[in-house]
Amino acid sequence: MQKIHAAITAVGGFVPDYRLTNAELVTMMDTTDEWIQTRTGIKERRILKGEGKGSSDMAVEAVKNLLEKKGISPKEIEMVICATTTPDMQFPATANVICDKAGMTNAWGYDLSAACSGFLFALTVGTQFIETGRHKKVIVIGVDKMSSIMDYEDRKTSIIFGDGGGAVLLEPDNDGYGIIDSILRTDGSGRVYLHQKAGGSVKPASLETVMNKEHYVYQEGQAVFKFAVKNMADVAAEIMERNQLTAETVAWLVPHQANKRIITATADRMNLPPEKVMVNIERYGNTTNGTLPLCLWEWEKRLHKGDNIILAAFGGGFTWGATYIRWAYDTV
Ligand code: UT7
Repeated sequence: MQKIHAAITAVGGFVPDYRLTNAELVTMMDTTDEWIQTRTGIKERRILKGEGKGSSDMAVEAVKNLLEKKGISPKEIEMVICATTTPDMQFPATANVICDKAGMTNAWGYDLSAACSGFLFALTVGTQFIETGRHKKVIVIGVDKMSSIMDYEDRKTSIIFGDGGGAVLLEPDNDGYGIIDSILRTDGSGRVYLHQKAGGSVKPASLETVMNKEHYVYQEGQAVFKFAVKNMADVAAEIMERNQLTAETVAWLVPHQANKRIITATADRMNLPPEKVMVNIERYGNTTNGTLPLCLWEWEKRLHKGDNIILAAFGGGFTWGATYIRWAYDTV
């Protein structure tokens, strides 16, 4: 009997309307369009505007998009895992809020925190519930409102991040399609280079932490860059090797969109030509947990049943990983 695989059977996505262009950033800080484009590949990013709007609002739009495409009721969903670094609140979990707002009243769920690798980690977790037969319909979400933790006076960090997210539906597959393999890694010693200093149990919010701007993303860009280039490329090469994949048999690389130079380094290591690499960083920047599902959402119509797809990510923590998917459907 064939092993049950967890297959992605639908993808939804959402990006807010507001475009924060490099030209606008130039009016906010000492930077140039040329510097941002050459160092990162980004031209603009989307920002969620509106009082009281959070990550859940974008996730709900992505979920509704997915359910509509698939033609199923929210009540059929059994489980929701939301990968996010910018939850609506410290608690309860954003997954709960999403279930409520989207009418997924029969689902249980929780949030998963692994920074930019969160979607990959959540995909692997969701896969377990399908492979064991425990659930038949699991939604995995990657979403972030990075603008909520951005210091727009910090030109080294704020220029790369944006808001947005996506969702995928996982269902059982008995024909060898779906998520085939994953390699996931963490190295907690990397936390010093990329984190948010205050607001957790170690340093709760106070007047002082707010005055010191400790609720924003702190990133030592160059150090993170070095780790990201090496580890994302290494793990992508490793998953190809252990699944006997070659540059010819891989149809697509879906890389985390943090910096165009990191994406290029990973593709080069895999010997993949640019036309096999999904890149939308110029339009969305780094949406953290949102980058991978947003790529799948945008490229969905170009994916074919049987395509070998490698997802790769690197993020704060440090966390990183790669996942191999044999794509399960054609979009008609
Ligand atoms: O997604 C999760 C993980 N995150 C990442 O993977 C991000 C990895 N890091 C990066 O992508 C890059 O490090 C950044 C895009 C964040 C920064 O690029 P960089 O090439 O590493 O720049 P840098 O911080 O080393 O700065 C180089 C120079 C500095 O000037 P000096 O000291 O050489 O005179 C900066 O002050 O560029 C200057 N600089 C800028 N100049 C104009 C830094 N930011 C800017 C800016 N505009 N926005």
